[in-house]
Amino acid sequence: MKKVRWGVIAAGGIADRRTIPGMMLADNAELVAVMEINMELAEKIRAKYNAKRAYDSAEALLADPEIDAVYIASPVNYHKDQAIAAARAKKHILIEKPICMTVEDGEEVLRICKEEGVKIATGLMMRYHAYHQVMKKFVDEGKLGQLTSIRGQFTCWYPDIPGAWRQIKSESGGGALVDLGVHAIDLIQYIAGSKAKVVAGMSDTKVFNYEVDDQASTLMELENGAYAYVDVNFNIPDAAAICRLEFYGTRGSMRAEGTLSQVEGGTLTVLLSDEAGYDAQQNRNDVEPVEVNVEFGNMYTKEIESFGRSILDGQEIEVPAEDAIQVQKVMYAAYESAEKKKFIEL
Ligand SMILES: NC(=O)c1ccc[n+]([C@@H]2O[C@H](COP(=O)([O-])OP(=O)(O)OC[C@H]3O[C@@H](n4cnc5c(N)ncnc54)[C@H](O)[C@@H]3O)[C@@H](O)[C@H]2O)c1
Repeated sequence: MKKVRWGVIAAGGIADRRTIPGMMLADNAELVAVMEINMELAEKIRAKYNAKRAYDSAEALLADPEIDAVYIASPVNYHKDQAIAAARAKKHILIEKPICMTVEDGEEVLRICKEEGVKIATGLMMRYHAYHQVMKKFVDEGKLGQLTSIRGQFTCWYPDIPGAWRQIKSESGGGALVDLGVHAIDLIQYIAGSKAKVVAGMSDTKVFNYEVDDQASTLMELENGAYAYVDVNFNIPDAAAICRLEFYGTRGSMRAEGTLSQVEGGTLTVLLSDEAGYDAQQNRNDVEPVEVNVEFGNMYTKEIESFGRSILDGQEIEVPAEDAIQVQKVMYAAYESAEKKKFIEL
């Protein structure tokens, strides 16, 4: 099988923790080179995955003629310049979330990718979770009727760590909302098949001392009329995390728990109603959940294979950069709403 020859920029973080191990399992990928901020780390990762070359500068990796595509997993403030340099070097790009520090930066990256004729996808890999795919199918098939209410909740414990780039606004672009909310907002719009048109937000640093938000709540009205509500927290212990995604409509509901995660797993409960006649007793007891059978895989492998098919076979990009830029608009509208204490129309 033909393979995409990959280079990884910023190989030492999530790339080493999840994405490169996922890439190693992909049937259409070959890891050619890795880049890190110093040669010692780059070489360590090269050896771990038996890649051909290690670099300590993005420019050097981008000059490697054997590389077709790059995966960019650096702190967010480097995304824009590295993506533009990659596009200019005619490399296809898989870029981590959130795509850039601002909507304008994301749009500039996209424009240059188009100019250079390279493809760009974003690392919103939770779309590939088997349960999220099932949820999308139920909505697409109209099984839930008219969507009315949607909720997402995603948490992790992230205390003060001096120097951590995620806690410095000029390096991350924001806190819990941009780091965790990006996934929940994307999944809601993706599964609902509808985008936010009105956004209201509250966000603040309630528990820790860093300058970015450690919790944020975002309310959206989608174009299809559904109301969606997203809570994200850096201040709930991992042992107490639930991480829920819930959809409600005039014909049913779906509740996923533990699926907002880096590992495919969790549970999904689907309740459907053939006829929604009025019942003054509000009987809720004799409804059997729909049986849902899925096989779990590796979301990072699926992400790499999917973008590989877009590069090699022209398959439509499953997580296009345009969608990530739109999610960015929603998140920044939520921050604006929190600041101005008013609804923002997109
Ligand atoms: N999709 C996911 O599952 C997922 C999970 C975690 C993080 N992320 C995203 O990945 C990106 C990185 O996050 P992380 O958790 O890996 O951070 P991290 O701090 O764990 O790792 C970042 C790596 O980038 C390297 N680096 C720093 N400056 C660099 C530069 N100028 N050029 C190249 N490399 C540089 C660091 O040495 C480090 O190894 C962020 O955009 C983040 O939101 C995605």
